[in-house]
Amino acid sequence: MHRPGSRIITTFTRTIGAGQLSEGAQSGEVRSSSTAGVTDWALDGSDNSSADRALAHEVVEAAPWFKKSVRVNRTYGHLAVNHLAMQRRIAQFLDLGCGLPTRNPRYPHTWESASAADRDARVIHVDADRMVAQRARMMLSGPSAHHPFVHADIRQILAILKSPAVQSLDLQRPVGVLLHNVLPWITSDADAHYILDTLRSWLPPGSAISLTHATADLHPGQANAAADCFRNAGIPMRLRSAEQLRELLTPWGLLSPSMKPTGACFPTRRRTPLPDHHSGAYAAIAVHPDPAELAHEPSTTQTGRTSQTRCPAHPGQHSCECHQPPMPG
Ligand SMILES: C[S@@+](CC[C@H](N)C(=O)[O-])C[C@H]1O[C@@H](n2cnc3c(N)ncnc32)[C@H](O)[C@@H]1O
Repeated sequence: MHRPGSRIITTFTRTIGAGQLSEGAQSGEVRSSSTAGVTDWALDGSDNSSADRALAHEVVEAAPWFKKSVRVNRTYGHLAVNHLAMQRRIAQFLDLGCGLPTRNPRYPHTWESASAADRDARVIHVDADRMVAQRARMMLSGPSAHHPFVHADIRQILAILKSPAVQSLDLQRPVGVLLHNVLPWITSDADAHYILDTLRSWLPPGSAISLTHATADLHPGQANAAADCFRNAGIPMRLRSAEQLRELLTPWGLLSPSMKPTGACFPTRRRTPLPDHHSGAYAAIAVHPDPAELAHEPSTTQTGRTSQTRCPAHPGQHSCECHQPPMPG
């Protein structure tokens, strides 16, 4: 079993979970398929290789809703950041497994969502993929240097937390940790527990974790076939059930209504609701400390400001356990 070490990755000779080899889309280098590249393809990005596209087509053949699910999840990510910033007054984010910075304005990246909600917001991006590191460093240098990038494997979470970028966060104020579709690539439950437990011991009160995670619960046959495509390409993947995710999040006190198919967390303009299986994933927001401890009192951040935990579904309550992004409009 892999145990996180203390070394931050500075160079990467192969893409995480590298599988098929092909020529890179733009650089001419030999590139293998990667989850970041497949996600970029699904978001109509331009940083994917022919190997990414070949794998993406296989996945779509196995699960025709795959592209939709990536888009739903990215849209949810934007709403979750907005929720944490606006409703919980969180202005510092740690985006673990941030993915390629998209060039498609329909799918804003985390620093754009956070800055739109709070112009002083800071986002630390973390990803293990070499291509993500290159692109992120290109895009985040200059005016966006406010939002640094750390090239690291999240199984080395302790080393990430000790990195200068993360050390620059103000731990007198809450932090929002984003784990958006990254834990499916952490196939060992022991590693996933280690990451979550380490974060929980480190996070200041008032902090939150936003999680999305691919599942086979919503369309077992197609979801498992899609996961097999990644595995066959040399990218180990683990789908987790709602029960397994609740188990992972147990110390956070997450309750069952808090976990929903991602697309069910926000309304769409469609006349008919999005079928749950088009989400392909669950979403949940877990707050620290456990909301049960705060159930009857408005929470106060260490800055002394009362956090706005009211949500549209439970406007009469100071603190509810819904914690889903607010319904737009
Ligand atoms: C499916 S993409 C999700 C990207 C983005 N979070 C989103 O929601 O659209 C998964 C990302 O996690 C990264 N990743 C996978 N395993 C990782 C690990 N062990 N450490 C750091 N990043 C990892 C991949 O490189 C990829 O960029």
